[in-house]
Amino acid sequence: MLELKNVFFGVDADEGKKEIIRDVSLVIPDGKLVVITGPNGGGKSTLARIIVGIESPVSGKIYLDGEDITEMSVTERAKKGFGFAFQQPVRFKGIEVFDLIRLATGKRISVADACEYLSAVGLCARDYIKREVNSSLSGGELKRIEIATVLAKEPRIAVFDEPEAGIDLWSFKNLIEVFEGMRRNIDNSSILIISHQERILNIADEIIVIKDGKLLKNGTKDEMLPELMSTSSVLKDCNRIKGGEL
Ligand SMILES: Nc1ncnc2c1ncn2[C@@H]1O[C@H](COP(=O)(O)OP(=O)(O)OP(=O)(O)O)[C@@H](O)[C@H]1O
Ligand SMILES: [Mg+2]
Repeated sequence: MLELKNVFFGVDADEGKKEIIRDVSLVIPDGKLVVITGPNGGGKSTLARIIVGIESPVSGKIYLDGEDITEMSVTERAKKGFGFAFQQPVRFKGIEVFDLIRLATGKRISVADACEYLSAVGLCARDYIKREVNSSLSGGELKRIEIATVLAKEPRIAVFDEPEAGIDLWSFKNLIEVFEGMRRNIDNSSILIISHQERILNIADEIIVIKDGKLLKNGTKDEMLPELMSTSSVLKDCNRIKGGEL
């Protein structure tokens, strides 16, 4: 179980201190798929970076199975089993797709094993396995390769930041199936997806709404979805989620 307790985060901006995450407490239970949603600029990606250790909170605590991991670096957290797919994936010049997947698994795997992960995200594996992870890959291809590396890692806590971004509609159906497949095999691990897409919200066990750096509301999918989708909702900013605008 991952737990955030009273987490604050801010940066020094030109106009002075800017608070980005304000007193967020939440729990990501084992065996659950949790989706974080909310308006643009609300702090979702920042929260994901804090969870995986790219950013450190100004105050507050982060616990994994009761252990305080607040001060742990991103490398230490990766060793603890955190896997992260960025909103804007990183390119690795000089590294082939196969290397990236092999590194993610941390094991000696065959090309055939690596190909399975690529196929799972809808890429024709033999066309990609030897490609360099550089600017020759399209945004959607890169996004899918990054998702394949998270699958390969079989993380204890998988964090996907807007995995749907740049993925075409046909592949999107595939992507949902990938997450549903992961969901079936996560007794001792958890999946956290940041998304604005109704179809991803729909496969969640729990939904958290982050707005203006604060946790606005959270609950089970059945409690949250009708309200999020309703035009008369108090969560006016979230209504546009339905159209996938946010
Ligand atoms: N290093 C930084 N310096 C200044 N402002 C920052 C920094 N990092 C994030 N922000 C600001 O913090 C706010 C939250 O950003 P964040 O990327 O977490 O939002 P988000 O909820 O992921 O939005 P989106 O839905 O557009 O991806 C934004 O206003 C952003 O401009
Ligand atoms: Mg974001």
